[in-house]
Amino acid sequence: MSRLVVISNRVAVPKARGAAGAQGGLAGALNAALKKTGGLWFGWSGEEAEKPSPEPTVGIYDGVTMATIDLEPHDVDEYYNGYANSTLWPLFHYRLDLTEYERETGRGYERVNELFADRVTPLIEPDDLVWVHDYHLMPLGDGLRRRGVKNRMGFFLHIPWPPTRLFVSLPYHERLVQSLLAYDLIGFQCDEWLESFLHYCRKELGAEVDTESGRITFEGRTTIARAYPIGIDFEHFTAQGETGEARQAQQRVISSTRRRTAMIGVDRLDYSKGLPERIDGLGRFFDRYPERVKDLVFIQIAPPSRADIGSYKKIRAELEQKTGQINGARSRIDLVPIRYVNQGHTTAELYGVYRACKIGLVTPLRDGMNLVAKEYVAAQDPEDPGVLILSRFAGAAQQLGGKGETEGAILVNPHSPDDIAAGIRDALEMPLEERKARWQPMFECVRDENVQRWTENFTRDLAG
Ligand code: G6P
Repeated sequence: MSRLVVISNRVAVPKARGAAGAQGGLAGALNAALKKTGGLWFGWSGEEAEKPSPEPTVGIYDGVTMATIDLEPHDVDEYYNGYANSTLWPLFHYRLDLTEYERETGRGYERVNELFADRVTPLIEPDDLVWVHDYHLMPLGDGLRRRGVKNRMGFFLHIPWPPTRLFVSLPYHERLVQSLLAYDLIGFQCDEWLESFLHYCRKELGAEVDTESGRITFEGRTTIARAYPIGIDFEHFTAQGETGEARQAQQRVISSTRRRTAMIGVDRLDYSKGLPERIDGLGRFFDRYPERVKDLVFIQIAPPSRADIGSYKKIRAELEQKTGQINGARSRIDLVPIRYVNQGHTTAELYGVYRACKIGLVTPLRDGMNLVAKEYVAAQDPEDPGVLILSRFAGAAQQLGGKGETEGAILVNPHSPDDIAAGIRDALEMPLEERKARWQPMFECVRDENVQRWTENFTRDLAG
C-alpha cells in the first residue's frame, strides 16, 4: 500500500494540540485517519517566526511523521487571518456581508501556498498518495504539479462550497477553480456542496461535466469530484467515554443541574455557528414559556477562535451581551438559565457532558458537516437517549435528519427564533419511546460512517 501524505494548514502535533472543540473537526479527524494508516502529515506549526527555518521540524507520534513549518508574521496576517479567514471562510459560508476582498491578502495566500509547495515537495516519494485539506490550500496541488510532482493527488474541502452566484463575487474565481483541477480527486462533505461545485465548473468554466460520475474534463485534464461525508473516530470517542474523566464530567453536570434538563451546545466561537441566533431562540422559548425557566439549563461551551480577526471579536461581544441579557432577566437567586463557558475541554470531558445533557442544540447558520452533532449522538445512553436539535443548514442534516417526521434529529431553521423555541419545547416533552426511535438510526449512521470509513473511501478512489 502507498504511503499517505496529508497536507493541511493546521497539524495536531500532540504537545501543541488544543483541547477538543477549540481545534475544530479537521485536526481530530486527520489525526484519526493517519493513526490508522501511518504516513506523513505536513503543515503550519501555528507559530510565527521572523526568520523561519527552511527545514521543517519533524517528529514521530504514534507511527505518524509530523513535519511542521513556522510562518512569518506578515504571512500569518495575509494568508491565515486575511485571505483564508476573512475572504474564503465567510464567502464559503454564504456571508458576503463579512467577506473582504483585498488584493494584498490574495497575494499572501498564493505566496504561502508556493512556500508550502517548496517545503513539502522534497518530502514526497514517487509512490505516495498526496491528500491536501481545506480552503487554505486550494492552489497547492497546482504548485506541486509545477514542481514535477506526478503522484495521485486529492483534495478535500471541509467547509461548504457556495452557490455559483455567490462564488463569482470572488475576484479571480476562475483561477482558483482551475488550480483545483490539478488534483485527481476532489471531495466534498455532502451532495449540496458537490452540486454547487459542478454547476460552477459547467456554467462558468465551460468544462465538460458528467454529474452522475462527477467527472470534470477541462483543457485535456480529468478530475473526479464526489461527496465523502466525514465521520468521527467512533471507537476512540467511545473509549474516552469509559474513562474516569468522562464519568466525572458527567457527574458534575448532573449534580449541578439537579432536576432541570441540561441542554448542550459546543462550538468554536465563530459566526457560522449561529450562536447569537441560538440565544435569541432560547430567549423566545423563555418568552413563550416563562414558567419553564426552572426546567432547563443551557450550557454553551464556546472556545474563542481566530481572535485577531475583527468579525470574530464582534461575534464574541454580541454573544456575551445576549447571554448577559437573558441571564439578567431570567435568573433567580438560585438559578441561572445559561452557563457560558469559553474554556476548551478534552474529548473525555466532552463525552461526559454530552451524555449528561438530554438535549443537544447544534444550530449553525451554515456548516460543511458538523462533528459535534455526531459526537452528541455517539455519547448517548441507549436506554435513555437525548434529543438532537440540528440546523437544516449543516451538512450533517443530510445524514441525521431522518426520513420521517419522527426519525432522526429535530431539524430547525437556525434563523428563526420561533423554530428553535419550538424545537426546544418538543425536545423537552418528547417521550422515551420516540427519543429511542429517533436516536437509533442516527447512532447506526455515526457508528458505521466513521472517520476510518471516510479515509478508506477517499483513499481507495484516489489510488484509482
Ligand atoms: C474548521 C476548518 C478547519 C480548521 C478549524 C479550526 O473546522 O474547516 O480547517 O482547522 O475550523 O480553525 P483554525 O483556524 O483554528 O484552524
